[in-house]
Amino acid sequence: ATVQADSKIAIVGSGLIGQFWAMIFAGAGFKVTIFDIYPEQISKALESIKATLLKYESQGCLRGTLSAAKQAALVTGSNELQQCLDGASYVQECVPESVDLKRKVFEQMDPFITEEMVVATSSSCICVSQFADNLRHKHRTLVAHPVNPPYFIPLVEIVPGPWTLPDVTATCRALMELVGQTPVTLSREVAGFALNRIQYAIINECWNMYKANLLSAEDIDRVMTDGLGPRYAFIGPLETMHLNADGIVDYCKRYAQGAYNVCTTFEPPPVLYDVPTAEKILSEVEETIPLDKVVERRAWRDENLAALAALKRNRKDK
Ligand code: NAI
Repeated sequence: ATVQADSKIAIVGSGLIGQFWAMIFAGAGFKVTIFDIYPEQISKALESIKATLLKYESQGCLRGTLSAAKQAALVTGSNELQQCLDGASYVQECVPESVDLKRKVFEQMDPFITEEMVVATSSSCICVSQFADNLRHKHRTLVAHPVNPPYFIPLVEIVPGPWTLPDVTATCRALMELVGQTPVTLSREVAGFALNRIQYAIINECWNMYKANLLSAEDIDRVMTDGLGPRYAFIGPLETMHLNADGIVDYCKRYAQGAYNVCTTFEPPPVLYDVPTAEKILSEVEETIPLDKVVERRAWRDENLAALAALKRNRKDK
């Protein structure tokens, strides 16, 4: 269950996520071919990939051992879906998030899929069981969901469908490890996969506390950025339990009742389509990040995430 280092990778859909995947695979030395339904988007994506790799190189956060120019040269474009998939060992689909569109694109790819290929969708919420049921090669499809920006946040959620071959799931996981991402594998499909199930539990509690007038928007975010966040960048919630007592069993014995008492006070999940609350939060958040500064703030976030990724990589090596 391996993808050979000299294999070709096909990227279908060359927007934000398709470009990130191309840079991740090129960083590991793979040949990459990108396809898009709009030919002008392919040229734009190739230019943007090259410029971004050069920028990362100048900032010292380029992946891999090849120069930015060599990595950019590994990425080529194709206006034909068949040509893009021809000879590829791995396909990463990155078209917009719509069940109908995923169905259409996978049906178009089906004739060109071989028994050696692994075909993954980047989908954030859609499972392969929702669109791949009629494919001849449905057993070679699965979800490989990255987290934005994937170049600096390495998690990839691998979600096999009911028909995905175990070898396909294992090959995808091994490839993600090889290119420096951090895969997690779910045993079956579930709404929200793992990351969004956890994320929504957090958002729900933040929203409910805000609505209950317990804390300001700024202070709610501080609970994460200067409380739980730093810890969770290095150890997860289960290891936290393990380290905060004499092992996780001791933690459960000591804190189960207290934790349960807190949890019985939780409100049911809020409906986020609550415009008055959202507008109230916006008015607070805008004091520090007005809407016209969001792009700048995103760049600031990515720079910090790059620094954290470098720190974690160096620690791991030690
Ligand atoms: P995007 O809109 O930036 O890029 C989509 C690309 O697909 C565009 O270049 C578009 O021209 C192309 N496209 C549209 N129809 C096509 C077709 N029939 N055949 C080939 N290409 C076609 O979207 P983005 O953000 O890159 O998202 C792609 C996928 O990745 C979605 O499923 C999304 O849910 C998922 N994802 C997005 C994340 C994000 O933060 N943006 C994070 C993780 C996953």
